[in-house]
Parts: sequence; C-alpha cells; structure tokens
Amino acid sequence: MEFLPRRRPGDKLQIITVANFKGGSAKTTTALYLSQYLALAGFRVLAIDLDPQASLSAMFGYQPEFDIGANETLYGAIRYDEHRRPLREIVRPTYFDGIGLVPGNLELMEFEHTTPRAMVERRERGHDLFFRRVASAIDQVADEYDVIVIDCPPQLGYLTMGALNAATAMLVTIHPQMVDVASMSQFLLMTSDLMSVIEEAGGRLDHDFIRYVITRHDPNDVPEAQIVALLRTLFGSDVLQATVWKSTAIANAGLTKQSLYELERGAVGRGAYDRALESVDAVNAEIAQLLKKVWGR
Ligand SMILES: Nc1ncnc2c1ncn2[C@@H]1O[C@H](COP(=O)(O)OP(=O)(O)OP(=O)(O)O)[C@@H](O)[C@H]1O
Ligand SMILES: [Mg+2]
Repeated sequence: MEFLPRRRPGDKLQIITVANFKGGSAKTTTALYLSQYLALAGFRVLAIDLDPQASLSAMFGYQPEFDIGANETLYGAIRYDEHRRPLREIVRPTYFDGIGLVPGNLELMEFEHTTPRAMVERRERGHDLFFRRVASAIDQVADEYDVIVIDCPPQLGYLTMGALNAATAMLVTIHPQMVDVASMSQFLLMTSDLMSVIEEAGGRLDHDFIRYVITRHDPNDVPEAQIVALLRTLFGSDVLQATVWKSTAIANAGLTKQSLYELERGAVGRGAYDRALESVDAVNAEIAQLLKKVWGR
C-alpha cells in the first residue's frame, strides 16, 4: 500500500458519503474498509455512523444499545435545542490507529422527527436549515482530519440529505443484481430531485467526485457480469474499475466484527483472504487516487 500524503493547508477537507437506499448494498462494509485503508495509508480519518442501526459502530466494537448513551451520536451536535454540544466532545477513539468515530444509535431518529417542526419554527429567523447542520458540525473539527467517511442509512431522510449536502464526494454502492439496480436508479432520481430542492433553498452541492462502487460481486455469475457491463455502458468511468468481490471472508469478518485488515491471514483460508483483500484494496486505491487528484498531487 502506498503511503499517502496528509492534507496540506489549503487542501479542502474531503467528506465522502457512502449512500444508496437499497438495504444491504454493502454501504457499511465499504465505509469501514475505506476508513481503514485510508488510516493505514497515513490519513487522519473520522468515520461518522449516520445509521440508527449503527452497524458501523458495532464494527468498531461499540454496541449501540449499551455503549452509546444519550447525546453521544451525531444527533447531539446537530439537534435544534439547548442540549446541542460540540462534535469534538462526541468523537470517540477506536482501536484502529488514525480513526475517530462518531457513533450512531436509535437516537439519530430524533433528527427525522424534530426537523419538520424546526423547519416551520425557524424559517423566518434564518437559522441553519436542516440540510446545513451536518456540514456545520463537521466544520468544527475540520482541522483535525484529512478525510471524513459517512455511512448513511438506507433511507433518504433528513440525515442523509444533510450528509449529501456536506459531502465533497459520494460513493453509491451497488450490488449488481437487477432488483438492486432498479432501486438504485430510483435512488438517483429521488436524490437529484431532493438536491435540486436543497439547491433552490440555498444549499451547496459541489461534489468533487461521484462514483459507483460495485460490491458483493461474483465475477463468475453470468447475469451479474451482464449487469456490470450495462452499468459501465450507462455510467462509463463513473463506475470504479475495480469491484469488491463477494467473499465469505468479508461476510464472516462482518459477523466477527473484525475486518480483513485486522484478521490474521491464517484465520481464513489464505487464498480466499488474499483474493478478497486484493479486491477491497483495488477499490480503495482508486478512491485514494481520486482524493490525491482533488488535492492536486
Ligand atoms: N464483498 C462482500 N462479500 C460478501 N458479503 C458481503 C460483502 N460486503 C458486504 N457483505 C455482507 O452483506 C451484508 C450487508 O452489508 P452491509 O451491512 O455493509 O450493507 P449496508 O448497505 O450497509 O446495509 P444497510 O442498508 O442495512 O445499512 C453484511 O452481512 C455484510 O457482511
Ligand atoms: Mg449499513
């Protein structure tokens, strides 16, 4: 793995959201491996778990229902009332060097519930609108990180919209099966609709890159190969060249809450481990190249 240069003064903080409202398209897995890859390469990474299901937090060893208390998720930093607190106080260390975590749990749902009322109450007063709040919270810690990776829930709620508005880059994960592709195109349509609503309301939308990441891919499956070919025809170079292969090593690593970057090689069949890790590394290397390009390296 290539050692990556840290962000220099003047380089824009990179905020990468991993999104798609198709459940199980490997958003969390993609966010986890990307965070770890970038940290191993020398970046200072903040991982934000925006999913009330909190799978990313669980992967980092925090059990959402036991280890995360009230006001200890991103909600604490974006809430509308007087209990709002600085994001810096919410960031937790992880056992993985170079990665801080803003954990999630069910409390995040509060933002979906309180936003409609806040919009009505605050419209006239010109306060931060809901879609700017995630970005404002991240601004508070911008100097401490090179890259922020946000794992979105499989819905297009206010949290996801806030993340998309904060983002400088977006990764849309795709499991190459027909139903998933259909639901992804729906996601893209709805996202672009919502983003135009946000832009009309004065929101900012300047993604340095948007890429489709093909995940859980079985290259020997003929229908899958056809779908991948179709996606490449439709989206061209917006689809990353590398794909993450479907692998029991990755699925099991999810169950044991240890990623391939943490497992001993002997813990899984060596060949299986190597192949899976190679595919993950290849995807992450492409994303790292995009970051370097944004920073003009
Ligand atoms: N490359 C892969 N090979 C095999 N299994 C995988 C792979 N990537 C992810 N998985 C498994 O697929 C399941 C869904 O993955 P993940 O939780 O990352 O998806 P998600 O999009 O975040 O889901 P949700 O929409 O529920 O948040 C998990 O059990 C995970 O371990
Ligand atoms: Mg997830």
